[in-house]
Amino acid sequence: MVQKYFNQLNYTLGNEDTSVDVELVKRLGAKSIFSVAGCGSRSFPLLESADSIDLVDISQYQLSLCRLREAMYRHLTFNEFLLFFDYPPFHGQDNSFERNRIFRSLELESRDRDFFRNLFVEINWGSLLYQGKWERTFQTMAVALRGILGKNYNKIFNFYNIEEQREYFDHEFNKVRWNALLFLLGNKSVFNALLYKGDFIEKNVEESHFEYYQSSFERLFQNNLARNSFFAHLCFFGKITHSDGNPVEATEENFLKVKEKILSGPRPEYHQGNLVEILASDLLKNKFDFIGLSDVPSYFKGELEHTFLQTIKGSLMDGGVIVLRNYLRIPNSDKTGFEDVTHLFSDLYPQEKVGVYRFQILKKI
Ligand SMILES: C[S@@+](CC[C@H](N)C(=O)[O-])C[C@H]1O[C@@H](n2cnc3c(N)ncnc32)[C@H](O)[C@@H]1O
Repeated sequence: MVQKYFNQLNYTLGNEDTSVDVELVKRLGAKSIFSVAGCGSRSFPLLESADSIDLVDISQYQLSLCRLREAMYRHLTFNEFLLFFDYPPFHGQDNSFERNRIFRSLELESRDRDFFRNLFVEINWGSLLYQGKWERTFQTMAVALRGILGKNYNKIFNFYNIEEQREYFDHEFNKVRWNALLFLLGNKSVFNALLYKGDFIEKNVEESHFEYYQSSFERLFQNNLARNSFFAHLCFFGKITHSDGNPVEATEENFLKVKEKILSGPRPEYHQGNLVEILASDLLKNKFDFIGLSDVPSYFKGELEHTFLQTIKGSLMDGGVIVLRNYLRIPNSDKTGFEDVTHLFSDLYPQEKVGVYRFQILKKI
């Protein structure tokens, strides 16, 4: 079942705005979290108001990166955390010497220390933040974006007021060039060629790929300042160029609360393998009240797509929720025993600062 695409360090910054999930956990009063790991930036921030977290990933490299993030929460100050990743305001300087010193001060298992020491030596102790295959692909796309949009490509980042930004996006932003860019890059063959090597999602939403990305960016720029979206920074500049664009893990309030939970609470649990098999185990029966599956079920097909909710249902407490971030494919799954409560949080979704996900929240009844 392991798809070759996921068998590498694919995510380092991540491609989800987890501030929405942080708010969901808070509103639901959820305490026991099970989360797809990714690079960790989508998971650890959920501890702001929860008590415990279990992380799962089929990729040992992604889990290794999550353990590095955990060690950073344990041992670093907020500014050291930002500097280690080259997050603004520490992005415009050479932090390699300091990064090496910090890395040697972290308590890490030898497998993780060896993996990252080799990686850092390979990149001369540069930042990991954009080393993921997904992030590097978007850095490549950013070069094309600047070439196609031309010299005023970044004017949309000048706005501090959403009305003014909407005015600009609706009436001045070069939509002809923008649509050409989305048409050229926003499609299955480009994503498979550049990144997924044949494992890209089988779309089942009605819109075409072009229409999907067009409406996703429309929603992003109509509801969020471009300067506040780490994803927009990555698409236009290939990196985050201002702290206004930092994701939730790189905000002081969330960092300090998560650090406190990691130091005082139960150690995060790590599960390597297929999340459906892991959640089907009796060992995790009724353990969780919040299960965040990211967009993984959008990659499911056939029998697995149809049955996965029923297979994992036992690990969820009554009244607990499963959160799906559907991307290009809404899983055609058996939802017996679940109530769809997506509409109860509809004010949150437009604020998600990546824009490509269609949330689905299923409550166990
Ligand atoms: C599409 S990515 C989501 C990553 C995330 N967007 C982020 O920002 O870090 C899915 C993650 O789930 C992992 N994954 C994919 N299929 C899985 C499965 N069946 N069970 C567990 N993990 C899986 C991948 O290795 C990857 O890290």
